[in-house]
Amino acid sequence: MNAIVVVDRNWAIGREGGLLYSLPTDMKRFRSLTIGGTVILGRKTLDSFPGGRPLPKRRNIVITRNVDFDREGSEIVASPQAAVELAAGTEDDKLWVIGGGSVYAALLSRCKRVYLTKVDDEAPGADTFFPNLDKLPGWEIEVTSEPVEENGVTYRFVDYVNTKL
Ligand SMILES: NC(=O)c1ccc[n+]([C@@H]2O[C@H](COP(=O)([O-])OP(=O)(O)OC[C@H]3O[C@@H](n4cnc5c(N)ncnc54)[C@H](OP(=O)(O)O)[C@@H]3O)[C@@H](O)[C@H]2O)c1
Repeated sequence: MNAIVVVDRNWAIGREGGLLYSLPTDMKRFRSLTIGGTVILGRKTLDSFPGGRPLPKRRNIVITRNVDFDREGSEIVASPQAAVELAAGTEDDKLWVIGGGSVYAALLSRCKRVYLTKVDDEAPGADTFFPNLDKLPGWEIEVTSEPVEENGVTYRFVDYVNTKL
């Protein structure tokens, strides 16, 4: 499986339950990579989506400790491990870890690639972070895109590969 994430220069990913940036070209890429596949996400990330609804055209597997949790269009599991087990049989390249911070941290070591969008900016007040892949053994940059300028920031798509898998 793979992870997909937007980070700032400090590897920040969120603030007060929401995203740090609105990046249309990145969103388009996120959709085109994940549509038709399965996404694994934490309950807080689900709650951050419009209307708290799961992502359309994708199988959504949501992790929560709340045994009573129910959300139309989502499959609910009690742990990251249970999410991976439920997704067993999914083609490796169609299984996506889409956040948030706690779910990335739990499943990163099982991801073959991280499709990272790196924003050349420092978001004030960020409270949720992604592990710094430049400091983690085994992660190498495969490809870096040309810069994209949008909504007042510059960013690049940086694909990391887990050489340990
Ligand atoms: N930049 C990006 O690409 C990106 C992508 C996604 C999300 N985000 C941001 O990340 C932030 C959310 O991240 P987060 O870390 O606060 O929340 P999260 O990972 O989305 O969800 C956390 C919740 O998932 C459940 N959970 C996590 N680990 C679990 C475990 N081991 N067993 C059972 N349940 C578990 C718990 O749900 P219950 O509380 O219901 O038990 C927990 O409160 C938001 O700001 C969001 O916008 C950014």
